[in-house]
Amino acid sequence: MKFFVDTAEIEPIRELAATGLLDGVTTNPSLIAKSGRDFMEVTREICGIVDGPVSAEVVALDHATMMKEAEVLRKIADNVCIKVPLTVDGLKTCKALTGEGTMVNVTLCFSANQALLAAKAGASFISPFVGRHDDNGFDGMDLIEDIRLIYDNYNFATEILVASVRHTTHVLQAAKIGADVMTAPPKVIHDLFKHVLTDKGIEGFMADWAKTGQTILK
Ligand code: E4P
Repeated sequence: MKFFVDTAEIEPIRELAATGLLDGVTTNPSLIAKSGRDFMEVTREICGIVDGPVSAEVVALDHATMMKEAEVLRKIADNVCIKVPLTVDGLKTCKALTGEGTMVNVTLCFSANQALLAAKAGASFISPFVGRHDDNGFDGMDLIEDIRLIYDNYNFATEILVASVRHTTHVLQAAKIGADVMTAPPKVIHDLFKHVLTDKGIEGFMADWAKTGQTILK
């Protein structure tokens, strides 16, 4: 499963990129606003840190203006992935852009039927929002299972990008279902490394090692 980080903050991206485990980045207008940075400038900087897809979202709601915005955004770098909302205009834009070889991430997906439409529109990624789905009394993971089943039934190449990830259990469940990608805030990705028994084990080994009086590096 590919790991994307869901942020427009540079330092956490650099830190995760340095682990060699980061496959891409997702941003959205709210994350750009939170960063306080200029959209074009921060997107360019992120694209220079990560080799994989960096999602940059259009803000227009009509197809013609979405295309114009995508034209500007895709010039930022080769790894820009244009993010469009799951609307009629968004999917028209998706179809046109992927037809020209541009990567597209279709966002704000809350049903398997919406995911089916996005795949038919040639989306590179579909982003079902599991956390927001859970918040509204549904099970976000049921949605991922349904999309996986449908995409496998028809061999769609669209990658399932599990978004709105809130905790490590979401990541585990997404991996068990066979989602292609997950995008999570930096904290959730850092939490994946942690286990109390790992910390306790290190503590014990260090204490015993100190008793030997030895060093590996002479
Ligand atoms: C994904 O691309 C979105 O940016 C993101 O996962 C939304 O998550 P949220 O529900 O935590 O805002």
